[in-house]
Amino acid sequence: MREVVAGAVISNGLLLLAQRSYPPEVAGLWELPGGKVEEGETRARALERELAEELGVDVVAGEQIGVGVPLKADLVLVALLATVVGGNPEPTEHTAVRWVGAGALRQMAADGELVPADAVWLEDLAELLT
Ligand code: CDP
Repeated sequence: MREVVAGAVISNGLLLLAQRSYPPEVAGLWELPGGKVEEGETRARALERELAEELGVDVVAGEQIGVGVPLKADLVLVALLATVVGGNPEPTEHTAVRWVGAGALRQMAADGELVPADAVWLEDLAELLT
């Protein structure tokens, strides 16, 4: 079983979202940024590496939030809390980033603006933001 790890990065009571640029099915939708856990890597280390690569930000990964979401037969998506310890997120692979509170997050979910897998965590995320 391979894993994709995504970061619930919360700062000043706001959640970081990143807008996907590919593939076409999800381009334009917003996600918790992250990527695949490599062989021999912990989830936390993978998340810290991915956010440095994709957004140029140093984070420390924390506990899991929400449930694991199956993406394919052999691929599961997990979310970890993360705290920024250095830098300011700047998109390199994403189209844009934004910080949202619970209200804006709920509105985006209602409008179908979140990637489908991440929408499963709506209540978990909203609770962290209130
Ligand atoms: O860059 P890398 O291939 O490591 O990862 P990715 O392409 O960002 O994500 C791998 C898979 O996880 C893709 O199918 C993404 O759509 C999915 N994913 C997701 O559903 N939600 C996220 N927050 C992050 C990734």
